[in-house]
Amino acid sequence: MSALPRKSDLAPHWALDPDTVFLNHGSFGATPTAVLELQGDLRAQMEADPVRFLDDVSKELWANSLEVLSRFLNADPAGMAFVTNTTGGVNTVLRSLEFSGGDEILVPDHSYQACWNAVDFVTGRAGAKTVVVPIPFPVESDDEVVEAVLSHVTERTRLAMIDTVTSPTGLRMPFERLVEELQSRGVDVLLDAAHGPGIVPLDLGRLQPAYCTGNLHKWICTPKGSAFLHVRSDRMERIRPLTISHGASVPGSVEESFRLEFDWQGTSDPSPWLCIPKSLEYVGGLVDGGWPAIMEQNRSLALAAREILSEALGTPPPCPDSMLAALGTVLMPEGGPVATSVFDGDLLHTSLLDDYGIQVPVFNWSHHGRRYLRVSAHLYNHIDEYHYLADALRDSA
Ligand SMILES: Cc1ncc(COP(=O)(O)O)c(C=O)c1O
Repeated sequence: MSALPRKSDLAPHWALDPDTVFLNHGSFGATPTAVLELQGDLRAQMEADPVRFLDDVSKELWANSLEVLSRFLNADPAGMAFVTNTTGGVNTVLRSLEFSGGDEILVPDHSYQACWNAVDFVTGRAGAKTVVVPIPFPVESDDEVVEAVLSHVTERTRLAMIDTVTSPTGLRMPFERLVEELQSRGVDVLLDAAHGPGIVPLDLGRLQPAYCTGNLHKWICTPKGSAFLHVRSDRMERIRPLTISHGASVPGSVEESFRLEFDWQGTSDPSPWLCIPKSLEYVGGLVDGGWPAIMEQNRSLALAAREILSEALGTPPPCPDSMLAALGTVLMPEGGPVATSVFDGDLLHTSLLDDYGIQVPVFNWSHHGRRYLRVSAHLYNHIDEYHYLADALRDSA
């Protein structure tokens, strides 16, 4: 194998290990040094006078973060709240809603397992039903996905959890169409936008999903632990944070209660959320054209990467180019080992890391009985890194 491949000219903005070929932005994101420095400053201010910072200084910064993020997503700031991660956002919605025996919640079979588990938890305790929608993979078109989901709607369907981009399969879902079609049939959508801001254009004002939760710590590159939950105004009264705190005893309108309850959930370090404006501006400023250009550039790189890897593995691209964002998934050849638990590591993943220094996920997706290899593309990546991975895959075959 040749020497380690180069990273892009923008890679020095990140603190990533120069000896690791980092092709897994999708799992936990990665944060530029300048943003980490801001987080360090905020923490220093907090520790200089924790009371002044948490009771006073941080409040204005927090309100600004909510405002800036709402503008970025064209969302109603009144319905915008911060949560630690998308798993928490999904749980907040599901565990606030009341379901009855016989109610149905739709979950496509590409959904993130942790969120799917949360659906199973609430349906299980209510005697309701999780209706799993098989989405073919390989898939040929958006229509195939929309038809599969809609064909599972019944008069008992109360909610559908729909991804913007799926985790194990990197599929850019036709979520705009799905939100419209489902909600026009009276089915509320919980949009899982873990891979949302910064990877696909997201206009919540136009889409009007009942609920949307997503991460900033993935594609916006904020420090870990910054995510949002947006609740449409007519659903605000139903949704309470997972942690009931001071706000619950303060009288006020629905909007005021939502604000008070979500903005204080006990003592914690608010710095990840306070870095949102900086990350949006800093990362957005690294490419002419800002975020729309970044999304397009990353998507083009993921498309090129997928082609290189499909050829190396001899498997067909599992979805049309139009259904791909900055995550490129390729099918592993059939017949490999399929683990049943997300906690079982994949042997190929381990050997690519140990023997070649490549960090790339290999998913054993037991719902499909197949293994998928998924590459991410962000500004620090270079096409040579995917060629290097392709060589390693050939080498280790
Ligand atoms: C589609 C999807 N939903 C939810 C999550 C959970 O995100 P978090 O770990 O930040 O809660 C992920 C994480 O990768 C994901 O890909």
